[in-house]
Amino acid sequence: MLRDGANKSLWQETLPLYQPKHKIVPEKIVDVLIVGGGITGLSTALELQKAGKECLLIEAHNIGFGTTGGTTAHLNTFLDSTYDQVISDFGEKSAQLVFQSVKESIETIKSNIEQYNIDCGFEHKDGYLYSQNPDQTKELEKIFDACKKVGLDISYVNEIPVPIPFEKGVKFSGQAQFHPAKYIYGLAEAYEKAGGFLVQNCKLESYESNGLAEARTNLGVIRARKMIFATHIPPGINLLHFRCAPYRSYAIAVKLADGKYPEHLAYDMYEPYHYYRTQEVNGQKYLIAGGEDHKTGHNENTEFCFAKLDSYISKYYDVEEVSFKWSSEYFEPTDGLPYIGHLPGFTDNVYVATGFSGNGMTYSHVAARLLTDLITKGQSEYKSLYDPNRIKPVAGFSNFVKENVDVVKEFIGKRLSKEKIESLVEIAKGEGKVVKYEGESIALYRDERGSLHAVNPVCTHAKCIVQWNGTEKSWDCPCHGARYTADGRVLTGPASKDLEIVELKDLVKVE
Ligand code: FES
Repeated sequence: MLRDGANKSLWQETLPLYQPKHKIVPEKIVDVLIVGGGITGLSTALELQKAGKECLLIEAHNIGFGTTGGTTAHLNTFLDSTYDQVISDFGEKSAQLVFQSVKESIETIKSNIEQYNIDCGFEHKDGYLYSQNPDQTKELEKIFDACKKVGLDISYVNEIPVPIPFEKGVKFSGQAQFHPAKYIYGLAEAYEKAGGFLVQNCKLESYESNGLAEARTNLGVIRARKMIFATHIPPGINLLHFRCAPYRSYAIAVKLADGKYPEHLAYDMYEPYHYYRTQEVNGQKYLIAGGEDHKTGHNENTEFCFAKLDSYISKYYDVEEVSFKWSSEYFEPTDGLPYIGHLPGFTDNVYVATGFSGNGMTYSHVAARLLTDLITKGQSEYKSLYDPNRIKPVAGFSNFVKENVDVVKEFIGKRLSKEKIESLVEIAKGEGKVVKYEGESIALYRDERGSLHAVNPVCTHAKCIVQWNGTEKSWDCPCHGARYTADGRVLTGPASKDLEIVELKDLVKVE
């Protein structure tokens, strides 16, 4: 299985590419076109197909290529947006509804696994959250009270499953973990068996909708009565690009010399927080630890994020070997809740699911349920809670302003940054850099054989300047999270066009 970066995740290593039944798109009008073959697209496609809708799912690369192949696969009812935040911004009833929706989601995943016999190592686990200083303890107590209010089964504990000093800890039950790639392969098979069309390597180039959605792709034009974007963030330029901020998170899977793997899921309370769990793959146990998150394109030394994570873990664990390390992207919504429903600015037959924070595995099936209900019944009890068109001037307002200030800054500030032409020759093999040459910005990458490649660093989505991601060997856009290969091809949206290639031959001599 391939992913959107140079590093290999624990999940992709153990699986071959998925082989769907179809390689071309059907010519007829389908009921629903789903764009995006991650867990959200596949679970939604399966639900809709089961509900009697004829679906076509298209994926630009292979299923699991995006964040589903790079998640650490925690299934939580305890969320990145804590219930005390949700109560304060949306009210207690809404917070209870959030809890209900994510609880149902884990139940749906479990029932899919049972119904379709998916061998993906699903296990129920307890989750532990622990404080390490008085401020965190105060915060933890607030979280505890809010969890009680929404109905989460939570209790204070004297022990946590990780060998890390702590002040106070809580345990919440009803959490789970699984192998995400094996799970979506199972979903894909079930969906195809139910009669759904699944086509990989089908890239969306543009789309429009006037009652009937029309999508132009590299494999031809697709017409559908409804269309869903399960692409992490929708393509085009949309209100949601200003209501979601892209982040990257880092994960490592290590073997422990003493075999003392944690039995349950654990989370500290730093900002960004660290998270831990154990997974057995092909008879080998791994401790998976994650953290060191930062906004996409806002860290010039991404390799150092792994080094920090590794050294933090090694303080507490007897690490025998770091077997896998990888990073992935997620989108933080400005008011703390995902956007699932009608795509703002489009006709009613175009839908979206985005802004899942670090809880994409769980929210995927909230989206599947909600979108299926909207499409088959025209309503859902979660419709207004997750409405992408909602206006929450109070909730998350300071974040909203902050995220947008960053976007504006990237539009104007980074494009004016000065670099000296000498830096051209300082680029090592396997490295990339945006430099100035005669007043023009150029993104340069030197491949492992020493050849220099150049692309225009202006992101084709909305003209921000991309940044080099040294560990994943990609050009990442700090504004709305589009990513490109070292030679400028689109890895992930919202951009749909590659970076422009700059002919270097006559420009500068290197070596
Ligand atoms: Fe929007 Fe690059 S992703 S400008």
